[in-house]
Amino acid sequence: MSGNPYQDDRGNRDLSITNPKGIGEIDGTRKSGAARPAPGGPFLIGEAMTGGYGRGADILHGCTIAVEKGQIAVIVGPNGAGKSTAMKAVFGMLDLRAGHVRLDGEDITALTPQARVAKGMAFVPQTNNIFTSLTVQENLEMGAFLRDDDFRGTMEQVFELFPILRDKRRQPAGELSGGQRQQVAVGRALMTRPKVLMLDEPTAGVSPIVMDELFDRIIEVARTGISILMVEQNARQALEIADKGYVLVQGGNAFAGTGKELLADAEVRRSFLGG
Ligand SMILES: Nc1ncnc2c1ncn2[C@@H]1O[C@H](COP(=O)(O)OP(=O)(O)OP(=O)(O)O)[C@@H](O)[C@H]1O
Ligand SMILES: [Mg+2]
Repeated sequence: MSGNPYQDDRGNRDLSITNPKGIGEIDGTRKSGAARPAPGGPFLIGEAMTGGYGRGADILHGCTIAVEKGQIAVIVGPNGAGKSTAMKAVFGMLDLRAGHVRLDGEDITALTPQARVAKGMAFVPQTNNIFTSLTVQENLEMGAFLRDDDFRGTMEQVFELFPILRDKRRQPAGELSGGQRQQVAVGRALMTRPKVLMLDEPTAGVSPIVMDELFDRIIEVARTGISILMVEQNARQALEIADKGYVLVQGGNAFAGTGKELLADAEVRRSFLGG
């Protein structure tokens, strides 16, 4: 882990990979200055979310998760707690029976996932998050399918963030290692130039060294001003880099606080961090 993310100013010094105006504004649908809600509240929030899959029982029970601009929010909790479900709800893959999702002050609860991508959200799901038969480069190009501008600069930035992907760009992504595949998935998401990057267990199945590497890259991405909302099994390590942490249990918020607060909380330590 390179340095302590709390010690430095995590402002938007380098906006190179970000898209401050938002892809949705390219088509001119949003009138500048007009009809924008007053600022305030987190940059992205899924607030008091209740809902489940189809007509099934509710999985989420008043669950709230949020992330501020350029910060890292981490969701931890036991298997089956509803972490992935909460991420899907924020991304619009689940109909909520109650609660709201707001991005930059705008209520996006009714928007499709595609419309949320156009608003600047990117989601890397827990499983099946790359096209295994396509090459690494083709995977990255797929990430840019909504863009009608020149995306070669963004691809160059992805290759700078993950140099191994440049070396393997002509190889089918299915031939890559677990850690390299996760880099492809994150890189594909970054190709949309998101404002918010949602990652469901980006370090699943990778070695501790690769996990540290990936966390360092994620910190780098956040420093460019992109908000990171991620689910992690490696709770202790993830909370160390988290500005905000959420412990989800049975579809609800059991604990929330800064990463530091959760790491210091005796109950959280005993129940979720192995003492
Ligand atoms: N597509 C689905 N259809 C119906 N129920 C589902 C679906 N996906 C998940 N569930 C149910 O929702 C509950 C929460 O699952 P979810 O995948 O959100 O948990 P999780 O916290 O992400 O777990 P893990 O740590 O294992 O990834 C579980 O009871 C699960 O069986
Ligand atoms: Mg999950």
